[in-house]
Amino acid sequence: MSDVNSEIMDKMTKVCICKGIPRSTMKRAIENGADTVEKVRKATGAGSGSCAGRRCIPKIEELLADYAEESMDSFEYMVEQIDGDYAHLRRCDEPEAGLKLVARAILPPEIMEGTKLKYEMFEYSILKG
Ligand code: FES
Repeated sequence: MSDVNSEIMDKMTKVCICKGIPRSTMKRAIENGADTVEKVRKATGAGSGSCAGRRCIPKIEELLADYAEESMDSFEYMVEQIDGDYAHLRRCDEPEAGLKLVARAILPPEIMEGTKLKYEMFEYSILKG
């Protein structure tokens, strides 16, 4: 699935059904540093609905586990295209894989098309040289 489609799916898929909070909101909270269920709950308001988190907490735990796994790796990306508030990144080691759409808010502000980035521990930094 392309990243644009997965972004749309993230917006449409409600993780916390009681509160109507989509997966995209959960992911944003995790990317912004919420690394425990409690922090994600606090940042998003998930888990405070009528089921008291019975349905959404296992899904939040799953998302946190996915991110923890991903954070073990580091990837290099090239900024392929800048498009308003988003940048399209291409994995340097897997150029044939689809482009990753990333909000510029979580990227270094000085990026340009052609900038090389390193992604590690949920953070993008500019690769020099
Ligand atoms: S699904 Fe989140 S509180 Fe019920």
